[in-house]
Amino acid sequence: MTKILVVTGSVRPGSANEKVVPVVVDMLTARNAEVTVADLKELNLPFFDDPIPPSAPEFAPTDERVVKWTGMVADADGVVLVTPEYNHTMSPVQLNAVDWIGKEWQDKPVALVGYGWRSGASQAHATAREALAVNLKAKVGDDQANLFFMKELNPDGSVADQAAVEKKVGAALDELLAHS
Ligand SMILES: Cc1cc2nc3c(=O)[nH]c(=O)nc-3n(C[C@H](O)[C@H](O)[C@H](O)COP(=O)(O)O)c2cc1C
Repeated sequence: MTKILVVTGSVRPGSANEKVVPVVVDMLTARNAEVTVADLKELNLPFFDDPIPPSAPEFAPTDERVVKWTGMVADADGVVLVTPEYNHTMSPVQLNAVDWIGKEWQDKPVALVGYGWRSGASQAHATAREALAVNLKAKVGDDQANLFFMKELNPDGSVADQAAVEKKVGAALDELLAHS
């Protein structure tokens, strides 16, 4: 069974993530994936504060939260980032989680599922792609899901257009599973 890690992207109470993540999990389960959710609120990672950058061979964080998070990514065959767009970039809590990991991202298949208003998180995805694909050498899928509020989603994150969500998210997940 393919092991997929779904990473949350918001720690706000009542976040749209709370509605979007279960949709992604259900779609992966329906595709026979073994799904684990990395809940960044629960993991409560520190802001990156290691004196050594994750790209350095001697990087070896000891904070148990970081060790747990790193193990989750290392163990996964593929990763889905569910991200809101904050100020035209990916959410800071999710970027911080990305920053904590170096070599485990290399060659890791990654799918991007984002939501927002004007661009449906396409600017968040652009920064995620720059960090993960260009810098960290993860295999980020071409088929990113851009979900728009007042179109595919309601502003609370609940699904407004089931068929469109299934099409957009499904394309990203199918590409991920084909490479995981
Ligand atoms: C600090 C902040 C910045 C935001 N910037 C953007 C933005 O650049 N583009 C956008 O479409 N929505 C933006 N929004 C609106 C979010 O898309 C919306 O609040 C969404 O529900 C946030 O995701 P969350 O509920 O999962 O935290 C922003 C919201 C916050 C709190």
